[in-house]
Amino acid sequence: MSKKAYIATFGCQMNEYDSEQMAGILSNMAYETTEDLAGADLVLVNTCCIRQKAEEKAYSFLGRLRKFKKKNPDLMVIVAGCLAQQEGRRLFKKNPCLNLVIGPQGIHRLPELLREAEKNARRITCTELATSELPGHVRGLNGKRTVTAYVGIMTGCNNFCSYCIVPYVRGREFSRRGEEILKEIRGLVEQGVKEITLLGQNVNSYGLRAAGECSFAGLIRKIGEVDGLERLRFTTSHPKDISDDLIECFGSVKSLCEHIHLPIQSGSDRILRRMNRKYTRDDYLEKVAKLRRICPDISITTDLIAGFPGETEADFKDTLDIMRQVRFAGAFAFKYSDRPPAKAVTFSDKLPEPVTRERLSRLLALQKEITYNRNKSMVGKRAEVLVEGYSKSSPREWMGRARTNEVVNFSGDGDLPGKVVTVAVEKACLHSLKGSLAVE
Ligand code: 5AD
Ligand code: SF4
Repeated sequence: MSKKAYIATFGCQMNEYDSEQMAGILSNMAYETTEDLAGADLVLVNTCCIRQKAEEKAYSFLGRLRKFKKKNPDLMVIVAGCLAQQEGRRLFKKNPCLNLVIGPQGIHRLPELLREAEKNARRITCTELATSELPGHVRGLNGKRTVTAYVGIMTGCNNFCSYCIVPYVRGREFSRRGEEILKEIRGLVEQGVKEITLLGQNVNSYGLRAAGECSFAGLIRKIGEVDGLERLRFTTSHPKDISDDLIECFGSVKSLCEHIHLPIQSGSDRILRRMNRKYTRDDYLEKVAKLRRICPDISITTDLIAGFPGETEADFKDTLDIMRQVRFAGAFAFKYSDRPPAKAVTFSDKLPEPVTRERLSRLLALQKEITYNRNKSMVGKRAEVLVEGYSKSSPREWMGRARTNEVVNFSGDGDLPGKVVTVAVEKACLHSLKGSLAVE
């Protein structure tokens, strides 16, 4: 009888992708994934530590595991991901129930490490960060998704934004070979996948440091030629690295969807400088104008940080102002939190919590208004939707995404998953659109 593995994933799409890779490895080792924590023989917790809240969530889940380990002392508990990298051996002290701690670059070593942990009942850590070679890569199980898939194209980050822990826990930038990426994508399309999202901490610097590799725009064009691939997306982009060549792809590569996630973080030049972002608000606005010139319907989403050290009310108003100017389709907004050893931890002018909290709620309120108005302007129009499956809210409705990335729930008959259909948009909600299958 096969053993059962429960996988809990916290954090970003990169972590979801890493979890899929680990699920693939575990299934090769005769572990079947389960949704039932109490019945699991192995629990893998893929953690995130990008913000304080993410870290707290991971610790609270690990705390819950104690009672399961008490009931079943043979339960194998693995902590993977960014918190594993950051804390390493210290995690064993905080959580005696752990068996194995693996950083993001140790994923491909899971089989040998797990075997060793099972055999010797030893506590093992694997948190070295490579400095000169690409960490191993394994194609994972695509989870419950069959219509869409992630494909990692690069890992790590060399940017060292002053608030960010990623370069410390994910290591330096490495790009995968273009041919390998294309082969993986062709294979996925043959299995019926219709939409690929290319993943990396900073996809725009794909290939920059790999001799003989093409640029990111070159890669997009090659993927654009893969027969049968309906849609292509990528995330995440750094505004400073978006080339004119890449912007041009939005006008010429048919499968490339009209959406870009372009984290701005702040609208104040002074704060952007202190964040070490290496662009100004005018640089950002210029990139947006170029994107909209080439692709007038492109939807632009972003990330924002409220209450960065030293942020004045005037700096904050610059952020509100640029939000109104760009009219982002959506934004993830966060309260600044210290993430040692990121540089901003040493800045002396931290803001009081109530100020940060109040600014975050103003950011969220403004974005809510912009997103809702944008969604309302789509009512009465038609959207081209790739159907992913049943809607979460109602099993009698379908769920898919527009090319501009809005979630669309709609009614309609037929066997629709995997098909691109036209939906008449009838209602705008805050986070989605509602409609019905359009009769052509
Ligand atoms: N505090 C708050 N937000 C942060 N982010 C990254 N580091 C921090 C931090 N220390 C946010 C940024 C980034 C997103 C993934 O998380 O907005 O784009
Ligand atoms: Fe962090 Fe900046 Fe790298 Fe993004 S670009 S992962 S925010 S250091």
